[in-house]
Amino acid sequence: MSVSLLAGVPLAPHDPILGLNEAFKSDTTPQKINLSIGVYCTEEGKVPVLACVQKAMKVLAEEQAPRIYLPIDGAPAYKTAVQALLLGGDSPVIAEKRAVTAQTLGGTGGLKVGADFLHHFAANAKVWVSDPTWDNHKAIFGDAGFAVDVYPYYDAATGGYDLSAMLVGLKKAAAGDIVVLHACCHNPTGVDPSSEDWDKIIDAIEEQQLVPFLDIAYQGFGHGIEEDSEVIRRFAERKLPVFISSSFSKSFSLYGERVGALTVLCDSADEAVRVQSQVRRVIRANYSNPPTFGSAIVSMVLTKKDLRGLWEEELAGMRDRIRAMRVMLRERLAKLDPERNYDYIVKQKGMFSYSGLNAAQVEKLRENYAVYAVKTGRICMAGLNTHNIDAFAQAMAEVQKG
Ligand code: LMR
Repeated sequence: MSVSLLAGVPLAPHDPILGLNEAFKSDTTPQKINLSIGVYCTEEGKVPVLACVQKAMKVLAEEQAPRIYLPIDGAPAYKTAVQALLLGGDSPVIAEKRAVTAQTLGGTGGLKVGADFLHHFAANAKVWVSDPTWDNHKAIFGDAGFAVDVYPYYDAATGGYDLSAMLVGLKKAAAGDIVVLHACCHNPTGVDPSSEDWDKIIDAIEEQQLVPFLDIAYQGFGHGIEEDSEVIRRFAERKLPVFISSSFSKSFSLYGERVGALTVLCDSADEAVRVQSQVRRVIRANYSNPPTFGSAIVSMVLTKKDLRGLWEEELAGMRDRIRAMRVMLRERLAKLDPERNYDYIVKQKGMFSYSGLNAAQVEKLRENYAVYAVKTGRICMAGLNTHNIDAFAQAMAEVQKG
């Protein structure tokens, strides 16, 4: 080749989360600890295959259904199950046929399809994400062609969120701008607004005619399956278009199957038909249609009474184990470093804790202790267990002392 198109292509930076996970895998230190990626591990440090999933897989293996193409927007039974899980089976939005759901490649796929759809119809809108947010939010909406800005959220001084700063920040958004919100288990901080404060946030969004895009990747890891979708149901009562990306990666431990959804709440059944046709167009031009296996597992588990009960128990088990790790970590750290207040660890919800560690401390953790965490100080509580928690607490206390 004489003139190479590729010669000037620069090296892209490592992904701040997935890149770390790769580095962890190649670390040969026996006592290494992975608190980087949002993946639930058991007390034995293994990614579980849930019993409900194993049972569903057995049925599917016996059925030997042909692997035909799914419809562009996914399996109908799956879409129905997703809507019921997010909105409640008796939701008027479902009864009035105002909800559009498409099966997507994980929650990331839901965000991407939603972003591409929005860019077709609102290219000049700005996208507002919380400061901080999941890094990929900025990349997904930025690559879809949007200008992305932040609204204040986390308050380092209190380890909580700053509602007034958030509402003032949102005032800068113009009518029609898109606001990305974490419906529960905020990633990366683990800090969620209180129920009363959610009302104020929803009021502000409605008043300013913003477009909420709710990301719910951790349903069931906060308070419970129903409780964690409460915010979605409150948004659904308002006169607003609502976008929701959801995922079963964590709640079904089905990470690699890429099972997620985009759901859009519309004003009328007629509007929903038109929106659905455009969502399908976006998908067709991206990857044609989604894969069969993961969504078949999820819809079987969600709709068969015995499997559903088993899933709810197993999800509660994951939630409870993470909570137990929070309590244990706070107790260990309080002993090692009584001067500091570690209550934030037990107040935060979901898989993550914003530990307060800075980038230099996180680097020390990796270099001196083979503990992997995200450079912002985010640690995945679901990577802790009774075998590694003492070593981690010790390492964290030591790097904090400097
Ligand atoms: C995370 O935040 O660690 C997960 O959502 C995995 C990912 O794709 O980043």
